[in-house]
Amino acid sequence: IKRVTTHTIRQMKANGEKIAMLTGYDYSMARILDDAGIDIILVGDSAANVMAGYETTVPITLEEMMFHAAAVVRAAKHALVVVDLPFGTYQGDSSDALKAAVRVMKETGAHALKVEGGIEIQDTVKRIVNAGIPVMGHLGLTPQSIYKFGTYTVRAKEEAEANKLKTDAKYLQDAGCFGIVLEKIPAQLATEVTASLAIPTIGIGAGAGCDGQVLVVHDMLGLNKGFKPKFLRQYLNLYEAIGEAVGHYIRDVKSSAFPNENEQY
Ligand code: KIV
Ligand code: NA
Repeated sequence: IKRVTTHTIRQMKANGEKIAMLTGYDYSMARILDDAGIDIILVGDSAANVMAGYETTVPITLEEMMFHAAAVVRAAKHALVVVDLPFGTYQGDSSDALKAAVRVMKETGAHALKVEGGIEIQDTVKRIVNAGIPVMGHLGLTPQSIYKFGTYTVRAKEEAEANKLKTDAKYLQDAGCFGIVLEKIPAQLATEVTASLAIPTIGIGAGAGCDGQVLVVHDMLGLNKGFKPKFLRQYLNLYEAIGEAVGHYIRDVKSSAFPNENEQY
């Protein structure tokens, strides 16, 4: 199996081939995604929400992210594995950020990192990239800043924020990012930004004009009951399917239908 690399990803944009990315947090799910042929597995800090039940991505730690990252790396034979640096590990001193970045790369075997923000973190991005670590940017709705935004609604609808996003995208490209996630912004803006960059954009709630798409795997598989924003396409209802299977198991145990003669020694 041929490994997807940051080079492959850039080639895909050049060739007009769309990039398919999903989040993954554990070995078993990552194996399924990898076998199915996903291009990129993002060990997102959305692990804070879907794995740990936190309300925001703010509380997850570097150690917790590294636990998830190492598990995904062990499963991924084909996909590029990108890991989110969690809140607080890269917004301050760029040498601290580099230390966190190096730890993730050395201790988990990840292939690349992702960070949220534009010009504010440009020096940090440069420093990490200069150390030889590929970095993906993330603009628009950046959930680590949720307490600043105060809401999870669409970003950059106003001209000032849209213009900042456009220049931020350029800054990230100049800093050496190999791609940028665009989250929850108008499709028209995402299309413009995508056309203005040599590096690929990966959209979530950012329309069809992006070079690729990403979804939280629990959301697209219907594991996250009650979460149905407009941008989400739910490909399965695993919440229901698993609930039915578990209900069936409970009934079988209670009625002594499980195990049967062939299921015992
Ligand atoms: O953490 C995450 O899942 C993400 C994607 C939504 C892009 O950052
Ligand atoms: Na994230």
